[in-house]
Amino acid sequence: MQIRPATVADAGRCAEIYAPFVTNSWVSFELDPPNQAEIGRRIEQVLSSHDWLIADIDGEIAGYAYGSPHRTREAYQSSCDVALYVDPKFSRRGIGRSLYGSLLSSLKERGFHSAFAGIALPNEASLGLHQSIGFASVGIYREVGWKMGAWRDVQWLQLLL
Ligand SMILES: CC(C)(COP(=O)(O)OP(=O)(O)OC[C@H]1O[C@@H](n2cnc3c(N)ncnc32)[C@H](O)[C@@H]1OP(=O)(O)O)[C@@H](O)C(=O)NCCC(=O)NCCS
Repeated sequence: MQIRPATVADAGRCAEIYAPFVTNSWVSFELDPPNQAEIGRRIEQVLSSHDWLIADIDGEIAGYAYGSPHRTREAYQSSCDVALYVDPKFSRRGIGRSLYGSLLSSLKERGFHSAFAGIALPNEASLGLHQSIGFASVGIYREVGWKMGAWRDVQWLQLLL
């Protein structure tokens, strides 16, 4: 497996990995899957300030992870949000852990001090991954989103880089 920075050329495959999580789960709070052009726009935007990394296995993109601003006011600039998506056919092979290992060290090198992840519950895999890396729970936003016919809670976790 190779972890490398994304380019806009990866947008189609990233959109393909992301779409089922949007359509069939509450893991993402988007309601309609973004198309390739929109993901390409997001990759370009993220690369201007944070990182978007790709896990490449023998030329196939197995997953991706990226950082983004936590909040926009200036004193928040040293904090970032992180997220990752791994194609289920590659799950539980250490890809998420490797992506985050590279992402978090790169964000630290860029000067970010604190990383946050918001996890819509239940999501045992994502909670397990973040906790195994050292993220600690901050608290739970109760009924902060409505998706797939139910109120959804989001647990926030934090890692000091
Ligand atoms: C969460 C996700 C990224 C994990 O990726 P992955 O490549 O399968 O994870 P890894 O193989 O690197 O697992 C690392 C650790 O995470 C934890 N973990 C992973 N999957 C788990 C599961 N299904 N249940 C419990 N813990 C799990 C374990 O501690 C695991 O270590 P171990 O295998 O040595 O026990 C992946 O399941 C995914 O893309 N899920 C849907 C999208 C999503 O929820 N993204 C996060 C949004 S905040």
